[in-house]
Amino acid sequence: MDFIDTHLPPAPARILDAGCGDGALADRLRERGYDVTAIDIDPERARPGVRTADICDFRDDPYDAVVFALSLHHVDDLGRALDSAAALLREGGRLLIDEFAHERAGTAIADLFYDQPGSLSRWRDEHRDLHTGAAMVDAVAGRFTIASLASVPYLYRYLEDETLRDTESVLGLQLVGLQPADVPAGWRP
Ligand SMILES: C[S@@+](CC[C@H](N)C(=O)[O-])C[C@H]1O[C@@H](n2cnc3c(N)ncnc32)[C@H](O)[C@@H]1O
Repeated sequence: MDFIDTHLPPAPARILDAGCGDGALADRLRERGYDVTAIDIDPERARPGVRTADICDFRDDPYDAVVFALSLHHVDDLGRALDSAAALLREGGRLLIDEFAHERAGTAIADLFYDQPGSLSRWRDEHRDLHTGAAMVDAVAGRFTIASLASVPYLYRYLEDETLRDTESVLGLQLVGLQPADVPAGWRP
């Protein structure tokens, strides 16, 4: 089971997939019995099952979980996107973030990614406009209780090379945020 499957409440929970892209995750969750709304700001993504909307001003009835899968680092305004997610979650709802922290890449990862020595400055240039993992964690921490936060491999999924897992095991960032009502005893300050 992957991160999202593990941390979603049981079907038929109401899920918002924010920044859904082609809607593949939403389709998979619907097949498993979830009630999924999938939104993406890019009108070219629109199709049955994918609505065009900006998470920053999307409003709807409450959801049991809001998922950002590789989309939060792209939003223009991190604070507004997370304020919106908080407003869209029912009390006790969950925020799931499956992301990557591009600032953690060093020379080895950049050279491996571009298959060329000396690629770190190119990596930094090409990721300059994306939110960092640290910025995302800070923005979540100001609005939710972080129940779990893990660094995991990331790139191997795209380069289709399982041997990369160890080399770049810090790039992926998986986070579960909880509304206060869902915080188990011991996690409260
Ligand atoms: C890298 S893609 C990830 C797509 C999909 N979640 C996946 O895992 O394959 C990021 C997506 O976020 C969308 N996006 C960026 N900002 C957004 C916003 N403010 N509201 C909704 N979608 C947004 C983009 O249009 C893009 O389709």
